[in-house]
Amino acid sequence: MIRYYEDIDITSRNSFHVRQRAKRLVEFDRAEELPELFAKYGTESWYVLSGGNNILFTKDVESLLIVPCDDRIEILDENATTLRVKVGAGVEWDDLVAWAVEREAWGIENLSLIPGKAGAAPVQNIGAYGVEAKDVIRAVEMYFVDGGNFVTLAAEHCDFGYRESVFKHSLKGRVVITAIEIELSKVANPRLGYGDVVREVEARGGATITNIRDAICAIRRSKLPDTAVLGNAGSFFKNPIVEQAVAEKLLAEYPDMPHYPAQEEGKVKLAAGWLIDKAGMKGYKRGNVGVHERQALVLVNLGGATGGEVIEFAWEVVAKVKERFGIEISPEVNVL
Ligand code: EPU
Repeated sequence: MIRYYEDIDITSRNSFHVRQRAKRLVEFDRAEELPELFAKYGTESWYVLSGGNNILFTKDVESLLIVPCDDRIEILDENATTLRVKVGAGVEWDDLVAWAVEREAWGIENLSLIPGKAGAAPVQNIGAYGVEAKDVIRAVEMYFVDGGNFVTLAAEHCDFGYRESVFKHSLKGRVVITAIEIELSKVANPRLGYGDVVREVEARGGATITNIRDAICAIRRSKLPDTAVLGNAGSFFKNPIVEQAVAEKLLAEYPDMPHYPAQEEGKVKLAAGWLIDKAGMKGYKRGNVGVHERQALVLVNLGGATGGEVIEFAWEVVAKVKERFGIEISPEVNVL
């Protein structure tokens, strides 16, 4: 079914809870409805609004907002070792994780409690605690708006990288993702190598899939603000990837600086949260916006902030980090 709204308040449709309106918004339940939807409402100016968890609206939206609502999870293939599943773009990501954990299907338990919908997962290749969506995504189903055709793109053509994919580049503004196909493992495969995960899992009695999910949920709840209480979009910035020489120079001065090998050779990933924290900005507030007190990578709406205020605050954080470390951090959220 297609549901159409005009001049609609979208405060509750963005996790930052900035108060903006959209001229036109349309929800659809099934991929097959997209040709009809675009024929009726036009293809000139549109934007896919999924869960609204990684977006900052800085003004009222003139473009047509399109919200995918297909919330079906369908088993495509199952054998002794693997489970292949098609997931509608409108499935809550964490409902999918809960579904998999219940079936002891391994692969996404470390991605527990990431806010957002399944259709958005491949766009920024969501990741946490040593796992990325690309580790399980085998294909992405989409509708090409200009051509009016449906395509299933294999994962190897999605150019997945750290918080990156083809959907942020050459396919940006051209396709509507309608479903993802993922492959989970029925063979236990705990990944406990990141930060506090192993300790939290041991405290719960060992590496069962349920214990891992519970541990990840506990870690996230202890650091990340609940969007229902404090508007935010998770990590506001990406972790910067720098040349080895740049990292080495900083490490000579700050030997305790967290750093990780980047996927690209000769490059190092730094922790933007640490940089912001060390620049003295953790807990910093101005007006209705702040740097979260427990995780400096998260900017929070303290109540009533406009998108414009948030972005202005973000540039202040960027400038401070640049001044202190010479490193340019950039937003991970989409600014509209
Ligand atoms: N750190 C600080 N101070 C802070 C925050 C972090 O010193 O205020 C240090 C930590 O002690 C740690 C390092 O920085 O040594 C990294 O911190 P953390 O493990 O919390 O992870 P992150 O790099 O800040 C990334 C993801 C998160 C994800 C976590 C866990 C990005 C942009 N963010 O954050 O993803 O949950 O790792 O895997 O890559 C999101 O994208 O919205 C998100 C929450």
